[in-house]
Amino acid sequence: MSNYTVFITGASKGLGFSLTKLYLEKGHKVIATYRKNLEKLEEIKNHPNLILYTMDVSDENSVKNAFDFLKDKISHIDILINNAAVYLEDKTKTIENVDIEEAITTLNINSIGPLRVLKYFYSFVERGNKKLIINVSSEAGSISNCWRDREYAYCMSKSALNMLSAILQNYSIPKGIKVLAIHPGWMRTDMGGPNADIAPEEAAEGIYNLSMKDWDISDKNIYMDYKGNLMTW
Ligand SMILES: NC(=O)c1ccc[n+]([C@@H]2O[C@H](COP(=O)([O-])OP(=O)(O)OC[C@H]3O[C@@H](n4cnc5c(N)ncnc54)[C@H](OP(=O)(O)O)[C@@H]3O)[C@@H](O)[C@H]2O)c1
Repeated sequence: MSNYTVFITGASKGLGFSLTKLYLEKGHKVIATYRKNLEKLEEIKNHPNLILYTMDVSDENSVKNAFDFLKDKISHIDILINNAAVYLEDKTKTIENVDIEEAITTLNINSIGPLRVLKYFYSFVERGNKKLIINVSSEAGSISNCWRDREYAYCMSKSALNMLSAILQNYSIPKGIKVLAIHPGWMRTDMGGPNADIAPEEAAEGIYNLSMKDWDISDKNIYMDYKGNLMTW
């Protein structure tokens, strides 16, 4: 099996941390970026195959700093995982009292964050062997299956991320890069809460298995859940 270099955003806890741990356990090298505090990354911070660096995806200077730090340390990225996101919504709020500043922050982190990261790190993926970009999306971003009557900001942010994924896949076909938009399931994390369906480790395992597959670059069905079941935009 090949040993890949994997880049993960928002790795301090939840799915990002589970992915970091799993790729390390499987023998890969991981560049785990985190907003401010190591949090769960403290447990594994001395792992020999782990590079840690702070990166706030809402701040272009912070993303550029991470790029400047890494450009002499790594030659390429095989698998880039845009995982960092927030869910700031007060679920009781309907359209009449939606919090606009909160919505702007949500879109800035969840949709523009991955765009910032890709602006600086796409060329690393071009030089990689696996050539895979995974945007952690959500069923909440599906327009055709929309059932909610509120939670505007989070849902809009994941729909926008889906569009980023579709455009990027078009652009990436001649470069041999595969883009996936993956719904990780409802996970028991700070975001998903204690009553969610699955542990983040299960979602990480599913995403890991998908990341190891040989993908057809020209297939436009790139929106799927962590088990590989296709989803409709
Ligand atoms: N949980 C679910 O049920 C569920 C369902 C569908 C999709 N998702 C998606 O799955 C992914 C992981 O979610 P999760 O449940 O693991 O969430 P989580 O436990 O809340 O973790 C989110 C991670 O993102 C980081 N983050 C937030 N804002 C950031 C920023 N500006 N820059 C860099 N990192 C930032 C957080 O860092 P801090 O420690 O600094 O806050 C944290 O490490 C997200 O994309 C989420 O939208 C989750």
